[in-house]
Amino acid sequence: MLVLGIETSCDETGVALYDTEAGLLAHQLHTQMAMHARYGGVVPELASRDHIRRAIPLMEACLAEAGRTLKDLDAVAYTRGPGLGGALLVGASVANALAFGLGIPVVGVHHLEGHLLSPLLADPKPDFPFVALLVSGGHTQLMAVHGIGQYEILGETLDDAAGEAFDKTAKLLGLPYPGGPMLSRLAEEGDPRRFTLPRPMLHADSLDMSFSGLKTAVLTLVTQTQATLGEIDETTRKDICRAFQEAIVEVLVTKSLKALRQTGMKRLVVAGGVGANKQLRAGLDTAAARRGLEVFYPPLSLCTDNGAMIAYAGAMRLSQRSPAGSFGVAPRWDLTTLPRP
Ligand code: KG4
Ligand code: ZN
Repeated sequence: MLVLGIETSCDETGVALYDTEAGLLAHQLHTQMAMHARYGGVVPELASRDHIRRAIPLMEACLAEAGRTLKDLDAVAYTRGPGLGGALLVGASVANALAFGLGIPVVGVHHLEGHLLSPLLADPKPDFPFVALLVSGGHTQLMAVHGIGQYEILGETLDDAAGEAFDKTAKLLGLPYPGGPMLSRLAEEGDPRRFTLPRPMLHADSLDMSFSGLKTAVLTLVTQTQATLGEIDETTRKDICRAFQEAIVEVLVTKSLKALRQTGMKRLVVAGGVGANKQLRAGLDTAAARRGLEVFYPPLSLCTDNGAMIAYAGAMRLSQRSPAGSFGVAPRWDLTTLPRP
């Protein structure tokens, strides 16, 4: 079965072709980062308009890359939610119009299910069950995943998502939007011993997390440092980035290990944009190796939003005859309410 996947939930237009026999055949992405950078964040109306411009050309590029035509498609999958209403409507309209015109099924995919299943596009891929650490710009959750659609939330952030904390802290340090990846690059050159920031809820019994206090702690540190040093110099900025990353990574690694202990599971799957963070990957790999646990990641290019994860999740839902939703969008959508196959 050949599935076209379309992702338009936020500021990336992603289109991909996934074949249930041959695997991922093509994957094209356009990021709107540069367009939103001058506003310091995503402008929803501009995002929607840009998705309109990009969706069809990206689809044509995907078909060309795979040497296929529209007639070869067996189904179309699109991100139904959660995300920006207007942006989602673009993907929903393109997908439904295409599917209607071609007389093939269409399936609305949950964006987080896409992220959650994206490590299954890697080789080797994890078997069920596993603990999933979902760390994106909008969500931070630890989940017990027993199978497709069998998602049990073990813990989640009580305030900011991990990616949001990266982005807000980066903004506070004067880095351009979206600051997460740049903050993490600067952190690599920072001194981990110069500053220490709090590890919120590190030793709490629950698997819940909280990251908004960390951002406030960075603000306090910046103000104090400015009072003593005057302007923040490049070295100090890198050291603050490092202190922030050390704190957030320690919380994510500790909570993930606790979730594995609590469930007795041996496999951890990491998904979402922050899963691209090198220090997080190194921290999880080291901790897991010491305990005989396995950690799985999506291919690096599929950590952030993309069409491949939507095509894959759509293909899984269709092959199990358990579509999660059809025409329409769901800007707010709880992952645990998805149907079980
Ligand atoms: O999954 P994603 O592409 O979009 C959402 O569904 O939210 O995640 C985007 C988030 C942003 O907050 C971005 O700053 C963060 O992932 N991110 C990173 C890195 N790469 C992306 N955060 C830390 N380190 C990175 N290398
Ligand atoms: Zn995402």
